[in-house]
Amino acid sequence: MAIDLTVTFTGLRFPNPFLLASAPPTESESNITRAFDAGWGGVVTKTIGLHPVVNVDGPKTKFLRATPDSTQLSMKKRPGAALHSSWNWELISDKTLDWWVPRIGRIKKAYPHHVLVASIMAGSGSDSELAHWQTLARACQDEGADALELNLSCPHMDRPDMGSNIGKDPELVSVVAQAVKEVARVPVWAKLTPSTTDIVVEARGAFLGGADAVSSTNTFPSLPLIDPETLEFEMNVDGFVSSGGLGGPAILPQSIAKMAQLTQAFPDRAFSGIGGIAEFGHALNYFLLGCGTVQVCTAAMLDHAIGPNVLKRLTLGMAEAMERHGWSSLEDFRGFRRDRVVVHSKIRRPSGEAYRGGYDVEGYAAAEPAAATER
Ligand SMILES: Cc1cc2nc3c(=O)[nH]c(=O)nc-3n(C[C@H](O)[C@H](O)[C@H](O)COP(=O)(O)O)c2cc1C
Repeated sequence: MAIDLTVTFTGLRFPNPFLLASAPPTESESNITRAFDAGWGGVVTKTIGLHPVVNVDGPKTKFLRATPDSTQLSMKKRPGAALHSSWNWELISDKTLDWWVPRIGRIKKAYPHHVLVASIMAGSGSDSELAHWQTLARACQDEGADALELNLSCPHMDRPDMGSNIGKDPELVSVVAQAVKEVARVPVWAKLTPSTTDIVVEARGAFLGGADAVSSTNTFPSLPLIDPETLEFEMNVDGFVSSGGLGGPAILPQSIAKMAQLTQAFPDRAFSGIGGIAEFGHALNYFLLGCGTVQVCTAAMLDHAIGPNVLKRLTLGMAEAMERHGWSSLEDFRGFRRDRVVVHSKIRRPSGEAYRGGYDVEGYAAAEPAAATER
């Protein structure tokens, strides 16, 4: 049987469902063209904004590693350590829209059949801020961007009307999606933050605003660890840190939990899965829950900046799995395990007795009848 890795997602045809996520691997023209040459199904640009960006004075990303047969977790480089997570406090692209616009145009002219998604971000506190979203959207799509991804999820924004502060407010999510949809001629994806109580609420806001897909997740808010010797945070500037984002292997189980909520709530909607993907087995989780594409950041950063070997593992792994299971396209297995995530009381008990989630009787089981007291 012919193995077909192509997918159609929000009306766009991708040679395979594997995309580079918006992050350092997609921050330059040369990285993006290298990624297309390597065969990535699509690329989401590093987020483009209109407000000035100045990053911290020091490293923007580091990698936390675990030592086998030990409990040590540290960012210190040492032989034999295995990746636990990435930690970053990098802001959006520090290049201006004027820098990006000609590059998007050039990339699309050179690679007309490759999918280029422009990630954009603005504020939401006023009509003029909402108009900034429209300016960004128009500029990118006029140069040929195939879709727009709205960054509603950057965890490092101080401004209360930006980044994950939008993503935490379903009404703002809706308003921003609607503003972009008013001018968009290309599909609009909303990238949500995992840092809320119920991501389904914000996704509903995105779809009500007209978003064509939801991407999930961005990084999880977190701090670097404190070095027990120096008593300093392993990443700091002048001893100070602020909340940053955790990515990589550590967030895979948490991100698929968010995705399971999303795809169950909206089984007919389009989702792009992100978080902790480094090989096909990881991506398969997202596909089996219902995602139509997945995106990779941390693993690609650690593999020649744009992840050529990661992509090989993904595509070969997908082809092998399809062959083994007799699937001819992603649609043969997409969503195949969506219905296996159920409420706790639906999980079988050893005795076969029904457990109704603790609703039947208040408190614990009734006490044993008291033994007859001797007179
Ligand atoms: C250094 C770094 C910079 C990032 N910059 C952006 C960004 O500009 N826009 C965005 O939407 N996500 C950004 N992300 C989040 C990633 O796109 C992705 O959602 C996250 O890292 C989880 O995927 P992973 O586990 O494969 O790393 C960034 C992540 C890292 C590590």
